Amino acid sequence: MSTVAPPRHSSQRPGQSPRPFRAPAPVPHSTPLGFAGFIRTASRNPIEIWGTRAFKEPYIRGAWLGVPNIVVNDPAGIRYCLVENAKNYVMQPLRQRILRPLLRDGLLTAEGQLWRRTRKAIAPVFTPRHISGFTEQMQARSALFAKTLAKREGTTVDASHEMTLLTFDILQETLFSGDIASEPEGFARSTRDFLGSMGRVDPLDLLNAPAFLPRLRRLRGRKSMNFFRGLIAETIEKRREKLDRDPDGTPNDLLTLLIKADGLSSEEIEDNIITFIGAGHETTARSLAWTLYLLSQAPDERALVETEIDEVLPQLTHPSQWSEKLIHTKAAFEEAMRLYPPAPSLNRTALKADRVGDIDIPAGATLLVMPWLVHRHEMLWDRPEHFMPSRFLPDNRDKIDRYQYLPFGVGPRVCIGASFALQEAVIALALLLKDLRFDYVAKHPPRVVQRITVQPDGGLPMRVSRRH
Ligand code: HEM
Repeated sequence: MSTVAPPRHSSQRPGQSPRPFRAPAPVPHSTPLGFAGFIRTASRNPIEIWGTRAFKEPYIRGAWLGVPNIVVNDPAGIRYCLVENAKNYVMQPLRQRILRPLLRDGLLTAEGQLWRRTRKAIAPVFTPRHISGFTEQMQARSALFAKTLAKREGTTVDASHEMTLLTFDILQETLFSGDIASEPEGFARSTRDFLGSMGRVDPLDLLNAPAFLPRLRRLRGRKSMNFFRGLIAETIEKRREKLDRDPDGTPNDLLTLLIKADGLSSEEIEDNIITFIGAGHETTARSLAWTLYLLSQAPDERALVETEIDEVLPQLTHPSQWSEKLIHTKAAFEEAMRLYPPAPSLNRTALKADRVGDIDIPAGATLLVMPWLVHRHEMLWDRPEHFMPSRFLPDNRDKIDRYQYLPFGVGPRVCIGASFALQEAVIALALLLKDLRFDYVAKHPPRVVQRITVQPDGGLPMRVSRRH
């Protein structure tokens, strides 16, 4: 039986980082994992399955249980498969098996005609006008959160957990404006139970076992899922009644916009709210937490961010203008999403045989477009493992190929919440870092794992202090 070496992690120790900071990540293996090793590794931490070749070559061919797979790292190949010939590539069955019981007919997991109709109905909800309408709610919730954290000055917090609380709070506010069918802590607990118990890759999925075989990890989540769905259904019902009673007095939040959207049933609204909660708060939270961590390891970068926040905020009181002016803050966040893309894989299945570059793609093959690989690819980036936010400053940003930086995906299924997330992140970072500083205090660098999102195993212990 083949054995798998325990994962090694490369990084400098906190406080010792020569500039620029080399961000911790699993060290790619240089010898094949073998069948049992692959199952064990993929089940424990999917991003550890990648070997050194995956970060060097434009295309890699492989196979899993007789199904061919092709890793596409070449930006031109990515453009071809995900944009020019996107209709030939559907969501991969493995992802559907994991996410569909959770998100049902929500936009992320819908396919074909249902997806087209849902995307058309939901696109108007995320127009720039509606998104900038959320800036004040984002500002108010972030400011309140920073104030609460300031009271914990001198203590160590888990930044990963704290950012999840903050982004959940912001999403909940922009979704429901406080009108939820339970007290807030109970609602947050129910969301956590629901997402937590469903989120891991089950070994049976990797083995392509039929859907009727019980997945133990998921069964544990069924009760919390039903409870959570009940809360959302009740919240929608209450809002419908309120809209009928007092249309002018009802907040124009995401829930109202979804109810008013053309052609969505109550069930579809429920599925999409759950999708927004599933896709739209943990992702942003991870990137915020990684940004705080990376800045804590790169004092020069942190100084740039702090200085610009001190200069810009007193001049521009309205947060709708911050995104454009806080260029270092935004660049740090974008660089954190490059190093730790919250969604590390965009996988598809080929409907018909195709050809990309000089590689044949058989019908039924799995197409693997992996931000985790593309964002760290040696062909595409100077010092790919290093935290260098200047890559994303306005003068340099244009040099990055659209298809080599994919935190929000690309093509027809590109993230519908991308502008929402970027706006939220800049506002949250500005208000957190205006008065506070976060320092990573663990002895060892964080261990980077994929549990749907790319996250630090066991959290990010950071000491909170006041800057002024
Ligand atoms: C930093 C934050 C976020 C990241 C990194 C992210 C990433 C992504 C990625 C990579 C995809 C495409 C998946 C694929 O092609 O297979 C996606 C799709 C999606 N995202 Fe996001 N997302 C973020 C925030 C949000 C937010 C805030 C929302 C909603 C409030 C949201 C809602 C969605 C939805 C509904 C889809 C499915 C779109 C479709 O298939 O038509 N996301 N996201």
